[in-house]
Amino acid sequence: MAAATAEDTLREVSKEVKQYTFTPEPIPRLSCTDPKAEKLIANEQPVILTDTDLVKSALHWNLDYLGSNIGEGTYTVYSSSNHKFLYFDEKKMSYVPGFVPPTKHMDLTFDEFKSKVNSSSPGSERYYLQQALNDSVDQRIVMDFMGFNWNWIMEQQKKFKWGQLTSNLLLIGMDGVITPAHYDEQQNFFAQIQGFKRFLLFEPSQFECLYPYPIFHPHDRQSQVDFDNPDFKRFPKFRDVKGHEAIVGPGDVLYLPVYWWHQVESVPNRGVTVSVNFWYKSAPTEKVVYPLKPQQKVAMMRNIEKMITDALNDADEVPPFLRTMVLGRYT
Ligand code: FUM
Ligand code: FE
Repeated sequence: MAAATAEDTLREVSKEVKQYTFTPEPIPRLSCTDPKAEKLIANEQPVILTDTDLVKSALHWNLDYLGSNIGEGTYTVYSSSNHKFLYFDEKKMSYVPGFVPPTKHMDLTFDEFKSKVNSSSPGSERYYLQQALNDSVDQRIVMDFMGFNWNWIMEQQKKFKWGQLTSNLLLIGMDGVITPAHYDEQQNFFAQIQGFKRFLLFEPSQFECLYPYPIFHPHDRQSQVDFDNPDFKRFPKFRDVKGHEAIVGPGDVLYLPVYWWHQVESVPNRGVTVSVNFWYKSAPTEKVVYPLKPQQKVAMMRNIEKMITDALNDADEVPPFLRTMVLGRYT
């Protein structure tokens, strides 16, 4: 029998993922040399790039190799009593009295993390390592890191006039872990190394259907909607949400545009996932063109919301203030 191609495997994986209340459209999968890919990136549209060789030098990074070579430092690990890892900003916790963090943050050596992953059983605590790559790792990992396709990374930055590359985050997740829907304020090339991840993606214009938490809340930028069990009474527009889907496997790179919403799922029963993302600052706005793009409006709303919150100096005063300003006048 002929060996399964990457495409065959992806087709199989796509049948194994969870179904939700919306039907996502597939994101195109293209060679990085295809002019269509360049056009998509220039227009801030997601695309899966198949042949960037961005992390070719690290495709052997698995738990055993990293355990033997990453070094003795400690790494940021989150644990969750279920499969979801909803991000929260520790600095904003004091604004919401009684806020209970949904995950636990711990600093573990790689061996401690590895033994927790290996000894986990169905239904027990899940672990997700999320660590910025820095120079505290040992030499073999530094060599692999230096072998990333930095030329390509720099070319993209120049071509799309993006700002500086700010960080690389190493993500090592157990089978089935989920980062719930949120948006980031940076451009991202997301490189998959081991296992398969499924991205559910939503354009910035879907803001209204996804109901982000208020800006002062520790879950700022995260959707309040639980995709597994949406509360349509509180979030009726979630019924109309329009989504896209991208499934990435080893060697694939997803361009994840700034302000695009994404829920990221490690495909269940396909083992541990290893990924690295490359975050860049966006291009500075050279000339304002009207009508403004949805992502520009989201940025503007964030600034206004922040200004109001800071000026009132009391998070409880924000909702009545906004109501007074809008209800019966702009509604
Ligand atoms: O779980 C994840 O891989 C999340 C990545 C991201 O939000 O950028
Ligand atoms: Fe993200």
